[in-house]
Amino acid sequence: MNAGFPSIRMRRNRGSEAIRELVAETRVNVTDFIYPLFVCHGSGVKREIASMPGTYQMSVDETVEECRNIRDLGIRAVLLFGLPESKDETGSEAISPDGIVQRAVGAIKKSVPELLVVTDVCFCEYTNHGHCGIVRDGDVDNDATVLLLAEQSVSHAAAGADIIAPSDMMDGRIGAIRAGLDQAGHRDTGILAYSAKFASSFYGPFRDAADSTPQFGDRKSYQMDFRNSREALREVELDIQEGADIVMVKPALAYLDIIRQVRDRFDIPIAAYNVSGEYACVHAASERKWVDGDRVMFEVLHAIKRAGADIIITYHAKRAAELLR
Ligand code: PBG
Repeated sequence: MNAGFPSIRMRRNRGSEAIRELVAETRVNVTDFIYPLFVCHGSGVKREIASMPGTYQMSVDETVEECRNIRDLGIRAVLLFGLPESKDETGSEAISPDGIVQRAVGAIKKSVPELLVVTDVCFCEYTNHGHCGIVRDGDVDNDATVLLLAEQSVSHAAAGADIIAPSDMMDGRIGAIRAGLDQAGHRDTGILAYSAKFASSFYGPFRDAADSTPQFGDRKSYQMDFRNSREALREVELDIQEGADIVMVKPALAYLDIIRQVRDRFDIPIAAYNVSGEYACVHAASERKWVDGDRVMFEVLHAIKRAGADIIITYHAKRAAELLR
């Protein structure tokens, strides 16, 4: 044996495309994705979101058309966000049977029934103050908000949503939503809980897309402090106890360690939300030709799966699906 060259050579398993494919530990599939959509009132509306190239605010008719394209690409699930006609103190359109999300769900389920429809449950897009619930004395009132979240969830389920995804970070909401759904007869409607959702600056472009920037203060009294990981495990544990079917870590990329810890600790499907700011960073650098956008996209998506996520909610889903065909 040559000094310094042992008989074990790691490069043997890297020598060709074929061997690399055989030994690859992580695969990203189009069936892993949930694609987020922003639905607005009107018809024939399709407005590109400036900070998120390739994503749009769309009226219900355009959304249905887009859902057909998504289905044809092999993507199985969408996540709906609503832009109401008008905002008020309590976000009343959020719980209206004629609300924008309720209407979109009905239309999608009618035209593309095989597509899984997940709805974001929260009030920040619907309130004039931009906070995720009912504001009392300058802060979001937990228990008053939880009651309304359960109502919003029931109205989404009644409209035909397959899965409810509460993103508000109130305490006790998963239990309240589960009870509300069950009482209303929606026992088979699932809950994808935004369990470990951090107060993150990576949500910037989304707040343009959903017009949901808080008009005073920030979300730190309800979303998690990014310095904490043990607390994230407690959040996940509580949501599982309260009846979550799938838990989420959000954002994804600065929180891969959290995804891994949740994976090692709990036997429940994990979704990771590859958020707007993470998407915008890849696009901005790619437009300047500072990175190869498609390659960075695939590296990022694989990293999220390698960390332990089963499901990836991502604005990259369509592009990735095109390349994965
Ligand atoms: C609403 C909500 C937000 C996102 C998903 N649901 C924004 C926020 O909490 O401010 C962010 C998604 C993204 O950035 O892509 N509560």
